[in-house]
Amino acid sequence: MNRPFRPSRRRILQGAAGVAALGTVPRIAIAQSAPVKIGLILPMTGPFASTGRQISASCKLYMQQHGSTIAGRPVELIIKDDTGVAPETTKRIAQELVVQDKITVLAGFGLTPLAFAAAPVATEAKVPMIVMAAGTQVIPQRSPFIVRSGFTLPQNTAPIALWASQNKLNRVFTLVTDYAPGLDSEKTFVNRFKAAGGTIVESVRTPLKNPDYAPFLQRAKDSKADALFVFVPSGEGLAVMKQFDERGLKQAGMKMIGPGDVVDDDLLPSMGAAAAGVITSMHYSAAHDSPENKAYVAAMMKANPGMRPNFHSVGGWDGMHLIYEALKKEPKGSGEQLVEAMKGMKWTSPRGPMSIDPATRDVVQTVYLRETKMVNGEPWNIEFAKFENVGPGGNI
Ligand code: PHB
Repeated sequence: MNRPFRPSRRRILQGAAGVAALGTVPRIAIAQSAPVKIGLILPMTGPFASTGRQISASCKLYMQQHGSTIAGRPVELIIKDDTGVAPETTKRIAQELVVQDKITVLAGFGLTPLAFAAAPVATEAKVPMIVMAAGTQVIPQRSPFIVRSGFTLPQNTAPIALWASQNKLNRVFTLVTDYAPGLDSEKTFVNRFKAAGGTIVESVRTPLKNPDYAPFLQRAKDSKADALFVFVPSGEGLAVMKQFDERGLKQAGMKMIGPGDVVDDDLLPSMGAAAAGVITSMHYSAAHDSPENKAYVAAMMKANPGMRPNFHSVGGWDGMHLIYEALKKEPKGSGEQLVEAMKGMKWTSPRGPMSIDPATRDVVQTVYLRETKMVNGEPWNIEFAKFENVGPGGNI
């Protein structure tokens, strides 16, 4: 788990031979170039292990496809397991990566409390910290070295609030996980939905650790609301969907809506037909129809049989893009110079067009409305509308 990921010896030799053949850089210079060390802190075990699995897979694939050297410097991925929600562990690992491994960049961060815990380490060490997964809006404010490659909850919640208010869902019951991203999502939905004339029947919050969704879903059913708005972090969706199905909420005429975390592509195949009809807004679907995404999904599924890439995986992929492109611009750049190079960067991701807002160091991207539908016997999130250039605060 903690061993560095290094591309095969053959690949390195091919790279070295290629450069030597060009006659530009002597072989010895390659051997002596300081490595780019990317310290990737992820939940590889515990309830959020799917996030670690997805991001580590996409980062490795990025390296395989884009080469294992940047401007002559060999790239080394050091993957560390923080086991889930243990902020002290994440902070200790971040410190070790800085002090012992002398990493160039910190990256990963599966959950908001873990990104919060590592932020002071990045500030003190002056190393860029790429937040690939955690989605609470304030995260980049915790350190001037943070750049986000994933998403924010307000960004992914605003479109579904608008859709609900325009589609005769007048009375909504909200259920969120009781921690920062859940509160961000709840606040965005409640404020926007009410402003558009909607009524919130009741708002409940479930614990992050060892949640039991059954009593909350029963309350939602008894409320006879038109829809149940749900935010749970990825990894939890299956348990929610199972209870929603077993308690007959869909049969009682209640629509499930929310940001797309509850129907994340990692778990979605296990949910089966129970997930059909859920309407969500999100920045990524594995079913997104673009040449970039078709190639990405095919390569991810080939490299990781049985694993459908989810939204966290593209956070990893695009985080690697930021790191590679910043280092190409600033091959020997300091932490500050690398962060400067990332500001304002624009590119086409498997998710669609995206950029980094230079003012907030946060992600600006297209957010899609999707319906979960059965296609050839499997559920997929099928996009049917989009909002372009959505900023971290959910401007639509
Ligand atoms: C977070 O903790 O910020 C987080 C984790 C998983 C998600 C969304 C947000 O799906």
